[in-house]
Amino acid sequence: MTFLQRPLRILFSWIEAGLDRVFPPAWNPFYHLGALGFFYLWVVTVSGIYVYIFFDTGTTEAYDSIEYMTYDQWYLAGVMRSLHRYASDGMVLMMGVHMLREFALDRHRGKRWFTWVTGLPILWLVFIAGITGYWLVWDTLALYIAQSSAQWLDWLPIFGTPVVRNFLADELLDDRFFTLLTFIHIAVPLILVFILWIHLQRVSRPEVNPARGLALGTLAMLLALSLVKPADSQGAANLALVPATVGLDWFYLYAYPLIDIWSSGALWVFLIALSLIVFALPWMPPMRRVAAVEVDLANCNGCTRCAEDCPYSAVTMQPRSDGRPFEREAVVDPALCVSCGICAGACPTSTPFRRGDTMAPGIDLPDQPLIELRDRIEAAVANLEGPARIVVFGCDRGLDAGRLGLPDTATFSLPCIAALPPSFIDYVISRDLADGVVLTGCDDGNCYHRFGIDWMRDRIAQQRDPYLRARVPRERLRMVWVGPAEPAVLDRAVRAFASDVAALPPDLGRTIRRDAVRRPQTAEASERG
Ligand code: HEM
Ligand code: SF4
Ligand code: SF4
Repeated sequence: MTFLQRPLRILFSWIEAGLDRVFPPAWNPFYHLGALGFFYLWVVTVSGIYVYIFFDTGTTEAYDSIEYMTYDQWYLAGVMRSLHRYASDGMVLMMGVHMLREFALDRHRGKRWFTWVTGLPILWLVFIAGITGYWLVWDTLALYIAQSSAQWLDWLPIFGTPVVRNFLADELLDDRFFTLLTFIHIAVPLILVFILWIHLQRVSRPEVNPARGLALGTLAMLLALSLVKPADSQGAANLALVPATVGLDWFYLYAYPLIDIWSSGALWVFLIALSLIVFALPWMPPMRRVAAVEVDLANCNGCTRCAEDCPYSAVTMQPRSDGRPFEREAVVDPALCVSCGICAGACPTSTPFRRGDTMAPGIDLPDQPLIELRDRIEAAVANLEGPARIVVFGCDRGLDAGRLGLPDTATFSLPCIAALPPSFIDYVISRDLADGVVLTGCDDGNCYHRFGIDWMRDRIAQQRDPYLRARVPRERLRMVWVGPAEPAVLDRAVRAFASDVAALPPDLGRTIRRDAVRRPQTAEASERG
């Protein structure tokens, strides 16, 4: 699937970078598609309730009541009708882009399959709600939809009397049909809200409300559109006439021409096959299994940081089971854990300053324990020379900094940048293992594990535990968040940082601390060796 994901990801990176020039990150719609989807849904709901007050169910009343709203009460009911239509269109657009983006970022595979698969019924329900909405207007377009849908449904051998017969003559169509349609049009969004709730069950801290600026901007855009181009009908439906030309809504109705071009059966086969492909995407190909993190109760003090930072709700805090004098202990659900290591990066016991083999975090990845990272750093920095020795910490999902072949640089990749406990940065700088540290990973707004960049930034700014200690000179640390389309940006940023670091005055405090720690460390190394 990478052959599809890679170009898509690059395309998204370009568009997002373009929008970043116009909007602050909190207002860039591409970073908040799910939240925008919810916003559109609330606009659809409020405007729908208003429109429903004036809507009459009946073969002639339906059209007349909508005409009344559009022309006689254009300033409120008309605007509400337009908002209802444009917000519904916005929802489809958002849903399509959201889905493509999650696919491009590979955030649908492995243990994240659940969120993807529960998105599939959402797709169908949004279309059913939208199509029944167009149908309710009972204009020429609605008649076209009614006749085409009936023809399409009749292909299934489940209806005793062909549905299409209802639309052959006015006397065959009764008001109860409109009542049924209205019921479907209202019930489906209610089911949709329930499925959206399920959709987010495995997403911790889901963003369901866009930032105020983004919400107001979106509402202003919808209002402007409603005033400039109010939603309109296409002439009352007349069963005696076959609609010759109709204007289609290309957000909801693009499958309809296919019924004429192909056949009802072919459209069924196409839509079912497409749904099955979408359903199967999380396993195409299946993700490599990586062992879940493990808790070492002997080192867990129940501080809850791991549970707070886990983006997948895979850690819960439960009553202590080992009799130690703490209230709670961390418990990992391996079925939810994606092995991102963010919890290990959050654990206060993950500190490389602990001597020798005693570094034992309360929670750690069994396949990539942090003690190994410390050993690898110590081995790699021994080969660094020059006035600016740089250690780059990156993430498996971001750009491979090692590939850049930068001079005097040692690079280490973690499953997520937030899997790096800040104490490691302190360790590298204060023990003078290198002159500067670069943190890199995914591009800002696109963290594969959702919160990696945010958590890391907050830990460094001392706004989230565990803090990076104040003694680490921040001019010796740089963060570079770049997308896959921009290896040259990372290259340039690391080189520029190296020359900045080379120009820094010698840090006396660092040298004193280094000399102080090197003596016991050397003694300890000879003991270990
Ligand atoms: C109206 C429709 C939808 C809404 C309102 C919606 C909403 C959301 C929200 C709020 C999130 C959490 C985003 C975050 O905080 O990072 C999310 C995540 C996600 N959604 Fe949707 N969604 C919709 C449709 C879909 C569809 C159709 C699919 C795919 C078939 C889908 C797949 C996903 C995936 C894969 C994630 C990411 C889960 C993760 O990062 O672990 N969504 N969605
Ligand atoms: S490794 Fe990641 S998914 Fe697993 S428990 Fe830790 S933070 Fe959660
Ligand atoms: S962060 Fe570490 S010490 Fe705190 S609860 Fe989790 S495993 Fe235990």
